[in-house]
Amino acid sequence: MKSILFLLLSLVAPSNAIVATAPNDDVPEPPDVRDLHVSREGSSLLVDGKPWKAVGANVYWLGLDENVTPPAGEPYYAPLKASYPTKGRTTEIMAVVKAMGGTMIRSHTLGVSTGNPLSLVPAPGQVNKQAFDAIDWAVWQARQYGLRLMVPLTDNFDYYHGGKYNFLRWAGFDLTQARDSNNPEVMQFYNNATIVDSFKDYIRILVTHVNPYTNISYADDPTIFAYETGNELTGAIWKDMNVPIPWIRDISTFVKTLAPKKLFVDGTYGVNKTHLSIEEVDIYSNHYYPISISKLKEDIDLVRSANKTYFAGEYTWLNTASQSDADLASWFRVLEQSPAVVGDALWSLFGHNVPDCNTFVEHNDGLAMQYGNPAQAAQVKLARQHLMSASQGVFISADATLPLVACPASASGAAGLM
Ligand SMILES: *[C@@H]1O[C@H](CO)[C@@H](O)[C@H](O)[C@H]1NC(C)=O
Ligand SMILES: *[C@@H]1O[C@H](CO)[C@@H](O)[C@H](O)[C@H]1NC(C)=O
Ligand SMILES: *[C@@H]1O[C@H](CO)[C@@H](O)[C@H](O)[C@H]1NC(C)=O
Ligand SMILES: *[C@@H]1O[C@H](CO)[C@@H](O)[C@H](O)[C@H]1NC(C)=O
Repeated sequence: MKSILFLLLSLVAPSNAIVATAPNDDVPEPPDVRDLHVSREGSSLLVDGKPWKAVGANVYWLGLDENVTPPAGEPYYAPLKASYPTKGRTTEIMAVVKAMGGTMIRSHTLGVSTGNPLSLVPAPGQVNKQAFDAIDWAVWQARQYGLRLMVPLTDNFDYYHGGKYNFLRWAGFDLTQARDSNNPEVMQFYNNATIVDSFKDYIRILVTHVNPYTNISYADDPTIFAYETGNELTGAIWKDMNVPIPWIRDISTFVKTLAPKKLFVDGTYGVNKTHLSIEEVDIYSNHYYPISISKLKEDIDLVRSANKTYFAGEYTWLNTASQSDADLASWFRVLEQSPAVVGDALWSLFGHNVPDCNTFVEHNDGLAMQYGNPAQAAQVKLARQHLMSASQGVFISADATLPLVACPASASGAAGLM
């Protein structure tokens, strides 16, 4: 890598310079941006003093998947259809996000991994080290492709990968999402000191883990630029945004104590204006099903008024009759043109069933975007146009040919070209 950099530097040397024939150790190499942390200043994010946009996609399955039955003998938890994604699937999706102009991925299962035998913490007091391998690989592959990661720490729901109900049940509260999502006892997750401590124990296990592919802990690795309290967190009423301020402050302070350079996202489902003054929170967000430009603008204005950053954490990329007031192209223009918007992540990206490069992985929500699927080419091109514009200020036509992404993709990524 050093020699490639040197060659590039030589090519741009002024013509009257004596072109050295060997690397000069007195000239410091420029910093590798992948070693630099993202920071926040008011309503902007910066890398190396320059504005940086966090744009890309949700790829929720990187740590644990539910969409593929693995070959016999591979780890599989049939009741939840849970299995680890192949390394090739993870690498390919990094190459796809890069080709689309993305700079980041938001991924639930890189942080939410509780309650089943393949989870990082299957039950209280147990740590399943095997579960780290898929997460470690994803963090390393993101780094190889020059991408960054936003990672939720729990989930509002009883999904296959786990969430807040695990911590409630472990503490003896017999609650499930199906039966109890309106039961005031769910507030124990935020308010009960025993449960809050067990959630912090979980966070400590995750964040202090050292990734053997890099020998860098998640806390120290700038690839993970942000942790988020959780995915779509609510109180006892659907979308009530009642996530207690002391809890958000406690969890964000705890994460920043373990990982001082991390940014922190309020994972409340919706922008709750009473949360905007929490000092440790850098980023506020909302999810949009369907997309709504009026709601988007309202959320952005609220966050901007507090001098914080706004991120559209999930939105559907399908234009359907039920969209309230927007088509996807106008939605993208609002995201690109509002200064407090630091990024967005569409819901959600899937690739091939690598090593089978002829079959796409499907997901049952009807929103699996598959790069290379001819039936989705128009939407993929529109998404790529947006990501290129937001991340690089490059305008490409919405019908520009999509660059080919090799399958299988190279695990060494674009490392030499950073
Ligand atoms: C917003 O934050 C930035 C960076 O901390 C600061 O320089 C600026 O004065 C703040 N603006 C307002 C209106 O508070
Ligand atoms: C908190 O949870 C524990 C069980 O882990 C329980 O014994 C205790 O009563 C709860 N506290 C409150 C205030 O409900
Ligand atoms: C990590 O550290 C171990 C022990 O020092 C070393 O053997 C290994 O090569 C290192 N791995 C990387 C990726 O640097
Ligand atoms: C916002 O958060 C506060 C503090 O957690 C909570 O009391 C309130 O119910 C939430 N919802 C709204 C709409 O403000």
